[in-house]
Amino acid sequence: MQARSHHPVTLPHIAIDGPVASGKSTVALMVARRLNLLYVDTGAMYRAVALAALRDGVELDDGEALAELLQRHRIDLEPSAEARGYAVHLDGADVTARLFHGAVTAAVSTVAAQPQVRRVLVERQREIARHRAVVMAGRDIGTVVLPGAPFKVFLTASVAERVRRRWEEMQAAGSTIDAQALRAEVERRDHTDTTRVDSPLVPAQGALVLDSSALRAEEVVERIVSWVASGAAAGA
Ligand code: DC
Repeated sequence: MQARSHHPVTLPHIAIDGPVASGKSTVALMVARRLNLLYVDTGAMYRAVALAALRDGVELDDGEALAELLQRHRIDLEPSAEARGYAVHLDGADVTARLFHGAVTAAVSTVAAQPQVRRVLVERQREIARHRAVVMAGRDIGTVVLPGAPFKVFLTASVAERVRRRWEEMQAAGSTIDAQALRAEVERRDHTDTTRVDSPLVPAQGALVLDSSALRAEEVVERIVSWVASGAAAGA
């Protein structure tokens, strides 16, 4: 009888991490559609917790209270044909658009820095990926959530470029915010995400680091898809 392999089965997961407005959500969705994989935006899960906390008046840095909040509410992330590629339901109601309002955006880094929140969401994210190949976008996917993923991408861009992209997005959505305030917000979130004790934003070992400052989303997608194709051919 042959000895059984103890290697876990590695699904062709693609982990895409990067800072605020690095383009990872756009790119991750495009890669998922190209390769016909499930797209999971983990940032939306943290945003749903921040929204529930604001609604319930829970302190944003009270990890225990946030863990209880997670028990009380149901958060579902489902694929959708809409522009973002998914819908988030909080207790059955579609809250997707609300997740990107200023108040939630301002609150989410603090909520995401709480280990009690991360523990629960990381487990849910692993569960989603347990039996399916996914393209999962976030800050700690390659380092913590799916460290065994064969394809890890760290997508970044200069602060100036990320501020410009966010500003354009907000203009298109009819929001008026000055570039100075936006830059301060991006820098504040970068600082919180990279300096937090639990799962700070860093490139995973072996990650393909892509600076998208001078690249269009399509070009970034092309590089990732060819990397995955060559890696898959090589048996990664
Ligand atoms: O990607 P985003 O801007 O929607 O993420 C919202 C916040 O959630 C951001 O401040 C970082 C945090 N986040 C995280 O800590 N871990 C993840 N895997 C995804 C997002």
